[in-house]
Amino acid sequence: MSHSNPTILVVGGAGYIGSNVVLTLKNAGYDVVILDNLVYGHKDLVEKVLQIELVIGDMTDRGLLDRIFATHDIAAVMHFAAYAYVGESFEQPAKYYSNNVMGSLVLFEAMLAASVTKIVFSSTCATYGIPTTVPVTEEHPQNPINPYGASKLMVERILSDFDQAYDFKSVCFRYFNAAGADPNGLLGEDHTPETHLIPLVLLAALGQRESISIFGTDYPTPDGSCIRDYIHVADLAQAHLLGLEYLLKGGNSDVFNLGNGNGFSVREVIETARRVTGKDIKVIERDRRPGDPPCLVGSGEKATKILGWNPQYSCLEDILFHAWQWHQHRLGFTQSTTMPPALMT
Ligand SMILES: NC(=O)c1ccc[n+]([C@@H]2O[C@H](COP(=O)([O-])OP(=O)(O)OC[C@H]3O[C@@H](n4cnc5c(N)ncnc54)[C@H](O)[C@@H]3O)[C@@H](O)[C@H]2O)c1
Repeated sequence: MSHSNPTILVVGGAGYIGSNVVLTLKNAGYDVVILDNLVYGHKDLVEKVLQIELVIGDMTDRGLLDRIFATHDIAAVMHFAAYAYVGESFEQPAKYYSNNVMGSLVLFEAMLAASVTKIVFSSTCATYGIPTTVPVTEEHPQNPINPYGASKLMVERILSDFDQAYDFKSVCFRYFNAAGADPNGLLGEDHTPETHLIPLVLLAALGQRESISIFGTDYPTPDGSCIRDYIHVADLAQAHLLGLEYLLKGGNSDVFNLGNGNGFSVREVIETARRVTGKDIKVIERDRRPGDPPCLVGSGEKATKILGWNPQYSCLEDILFHAWQWHQHRLGFTQSTTMPPALMT
């Protein structure tokens, strides 16, 4: 291990977004240690692709955290570990509050004991609830409508109180819909169960699912389906690097949306997926799901202004193309390395 590079502890770094951030940190010259209980993370990707030290364990294990801080000179923590299924959070709120809130508190207390007081935290647009104005800015009221969003808001509140009391500096990123894959095809999205639209559409294109459902076709949007802001995981990773460096340089605690300010409807995503993959994708139109806002789009202007964030992949074709490369590769299909002709204009 180099003594000149700061070491970053990435909790939940074997998951989708965390692993992409670890790759960016590694490429930027940081030393990284991952703590992940592998409930959803992928050991094979950490070992084969990232080749980073992986501590398998739970963030609620205070003894383990103390040992990690005692044996590594950790400069800052990045915290991705959480349960993130909205539907499940209604059925099992205890599971969500205990992992997402209590687990975070154990982590923060261990950090305090080790005098590590800088953290980048994965929050979510779900803390806003149903937006009253779009694009949503950081000043928009936070009224989460599900236990998952509430659990993330509670952690934001804990971080704010820790700053007041203990000078604990945090950057909270409220992501909109994370999507896409590493542009070089090394890492991507592989959730089980999968609930996100883009991987579901691509699994339908690969014949791994019969069809894709559109929930609600009568929303007050141009084509009647819901509009969401898809943010490329490589752009999220870039923001995390900037957020980390902001804190390491002594920046104050702050919160930032990570969104493109640009929305795409469910029908647009499916149509673009048909073009990118060249496959027919069967669609089933269903009733609206309760609690789905018609339009959820976030302004990332504050992150651009304060952190210098400059998203590179706001075009839906790029997001889908990178995700498609990854899905074919992950599932053992031939990896396509060039843009389909239809997208080159
Ligand atoms: N994917 C999105 O669109 C999105 C949007 C907004 C916010 N987020 C937030 O971003 C973070 C990462 O999301 P993701 O999509 O990469 O999820 P993910 O499930 O792929 O990654 C989370 C990782 O945390 C690990 N983990 C969970 N609980 C743990 C614990 N107690 N101890 C140790 N490890 C634990 C899991 O094994 C997994 O590897 C989450 O906090 C999520 O709430 C995600």
